[in-house]
This record gives sequence, C-alpha cells and structure tokens, in this order.
Amino acid sequence: MNRKLRMGMIGGGKNAFIGAVHRIAANMDGLIELVCGAFSSQPDNARESGLALFLPEDRIYLSYEEMMEKESSLPSDKRMDFVVIVTPNNTHFAPAILALEKGFHVVIEKPMTFSLEEARLLQKKVADTGLLLCLTHTYSGYPMVKQARQMVKKGTFGKIRKIYVEYPQGWLSRLSEKEGSKQAAWRTDPSRSGKAGCMGDIGTHAAHLAEYISGLQIKQLCADLSIFVEGRQLDDDGNVLLRFDNGATGVLFASQVAAGEENALKIRVYGEKGGLEWAQQEPNTLLIKWLDQPTQIFRAGANYGDRLSPFAVHNSRTPAGHPEGYLEAFGNLYRNFALTLIARLNGVSPSEEALDFPTVDDGVRGMAFIDNVVRSNESLEKWTFFKVSDDGDC
Ligand code: NAI
Repeated sequence: MNRKLRMGMIGGGKNAFIGAVHRIAANMDGLIELVCGAFSSQPDNARESGLALFLPEDRIYLSYEEMMEKESSLPSDKRMDFVVIVTPNNTHFAPAILALEKGFHVVIEKPMTFSLEEARLLQKKVADTGLLLCLTHTYSGYPMVKQARQMVKKGTFGKIRKIYVEYPQGWLSRLSEKEGSKQAAWRTDPSRSGKAGCMGDIGTHAAHLAEYISGLQIKQLCADLSIFVEGRQLDDDGNVLLRFDNGATGVLFASQVAAGEENALKIRVYGEKGGLEWAQQEPNTLLIKWLDQPTQIFRAGANYGDRLSPFAVHNSRTPAGHPEGYLEAFGNLYRNFALTLIARLNGVSPSEEALDFPTVDDGVRGMAFIDNVVRSNESLEKWTFFKVSDDGDC
C-alpha cells in the first residue's frame, strides 16, 4: 500500500474540544489524512467546520447517516478507510454500528457507549465484522506508561499487591453547566452522558490505566459517589475500593471538584519487591521504587533503545530531554492503530508494539466499571456506621 489511510470524522466541529486534538494526533506521523466529516448536528456548524478544514464541499456531510451512505457508495480508492467518533457519549453507539455495517473501521472516544448493553452489542458487531476498533484511552499511549506495563509484565516487582490511582480535576467546582460551558452541559446531563458523571468521564480513564499497567482485572469494588455542587444531576466526585483478580487491592478516586487541580492523574503500583509511580502532568518520568535500594528515575527518550522496553521506545519520537506530552500520547494511539490497519491491508502481521492500543474489550470493561460503581454506590451493604458508644451514637 503506497498511500495514507483516509479518515472521516463525526463530531469535532467548531468550538468542540477533543475533535481538534484527534486531528493533530492523526496527522502526526504522516500515515493518515482527513478526507471527510459530519462535524456537528447543526448544519451550519457542520458546513463551516468542514470548509475551515479545507475539505471539498462534497465530502462535508450534514449528518453521520448521510456520510455513511455516501462514503460507502464511493469507489474503493476514494472512500474513507475508517471513521473517528468524537461526539458526546449518547452519540457513540449508533454511528459506530452503522460504520461497521458499512465496512468501515472505527476509532471511538471513551466512555465507549452510553450503556453497558450497547457496549456488549458493539463488541459483538466488531467480532462479527472482523473490523478494527480503537478506543482512545489517551493515557495508555504515553511511553513511560508502556514502560511501566512491561516492567510489571516481566515480573520486575514480583506479585502485585497494591494499586492506588487518582484523577482529580477542579473544572466542575461551580455549576458550569448553567454558565454556558457546553462541555459541562452534556457531561452532567444523564440523557447525554450516561449513568455516571465524573466516574464515566475520568474514572474510566483511571480504571483503564490501573488494569493496563498491572495487567490485572477489577473483580470487586465498593464505591461512594457524591454530588457536591448543588443543582447538579450526576456525580462530580467519587472514591472506590478495588479488589483485583490476583488478590491485589487498591483505591481509585476521581473528582471534578478538587478545586485548583488540572489533570492530576497519578498511579502507584506496588509488588512484593518494589513499585512504580507515574503522574500524567510529569509524563516523561517514571519512578521505580525498591524495597532495599534508593528510588530510580527512568526518563523517556527515543535514544534509550538499550535501556527502555521496546514498547516505550516504539512510542517515543524525540531524544530524551525534548519533552513529549498529551498530543504525542494521542498520536501513539493513532500510529499503532494505523500500523495495524496498514499491515492488515498489506496482508502481513502487525508487530506486538503496533497491536498495543485499547480495543472494544477495554470499552466493555469501562462501561462495566461505570455500571458496577453506580450499583455499588446505591447499595448500603458495605457501610459500617462509625459508632462511638454502645447505644449506637454516630
Ligand atoms: P464537545 O461537546 O466539545 O464536542 C462534541 C462535538 O460533537 C460537537 O462538535 C458537536 O457539535 C458534535 N456532535 C454532537 N452530536 C452530533 C451528531 N449527531 N453528529 C455530528 N456531530 C455531533 O465534547 P468533547 O469534550 O470533545 O467530548 C467528545 C467525546 O470525547 C466524549 O465522549 C468525551 O468523553 C470524549 N473525550 C475524551 C478525552 C480523552 O482524553 N480521550 C478528552 C475529552 C473528551
């Protein structure tokens, strides 16, 4: 194959947040070009957004249904290869199913769907069609997260016992949904966001990161969700106790009312012999801790081929000390997805490193996380009231 992959986009119109990030990320390695889009549910916005991206008028669509219909009728050397879905959560499932039915591969935002039921149907559709689906859990694209995962996998720390993962943000500390923030408006609306607010929006990122780095799966949890801002309909904060399938335990907390925090995602994982610590706002550093030695500092760098895991190096673009960040992590998801798709189109096997991107199975786990967290929060089963005397005073 001697051409770029052709991408179509649903959502990501003028004033949208993550669509523009996707376009930069997809463009980063010269493997992908944007050829068409249905950028908004508002026709004027859809058109203006497409024109601002210099797309030809006949490839700017006013709905994703029109886009699927028209793209699938184009000759195979013109039509898009895959579609990226960057709309609010309630508009992920329908376009994804339609795209797969029309033979297009899919890149889709998290949380993957609106409900667990939709996620399971999408998983089945991916299996039935044999097409690719990449779920953009951005943080799994960072080189030092790859390094952390590979070190755990190699048994560097022995059996994993503890996982602490946290994602505090502060941007919903006020009732921003009533103050004109459209990103806040749909995220706090159960009819567009889903069963959970904060836990769906960023709790799923934290849960994915914990499972991705540790290679373990959450088997039990105990969740306590809160709505701190008066007038809000969905959780804006939550704490979750976790039990993993190997017996490890953990704590996950996520908050969008941690006033003053930006995107302070951080994870610590401890095994029998040592542990690791990685923080998203300092992503090129990975701390490696030892039971009986001083902490080591690992740094990302494309030139550290003999010292870092091939997975970390494969996902690095610059020599050590030239910082890579969020956009490059996003770019790595696209690059690995594209390398996998190109290999498939060329009839060869993709490398292990290329195959390392989140899939529909991760999406189902994310939706199950939301479901279980909400169910646990609604139950009082695990709560012990704090008594200070025998007559039951609390
Ligand atoms: P946004 O509100 O900024 O943008 C949504 C876009 O979708 C808008 O352009 C809107 O016009 C468009 N849209 C809505 N319905 C549509 C339809 N029927 N057809 C075509 N376009 C339609 O939302 P934001 O913040 O960009 O989030 C979008 C998705 O990305 C969400 O699922 C969110 O959870 C996810 N996200 C993921 C991040 C990550 O780190 N991976 C970060 C931010 C968001």
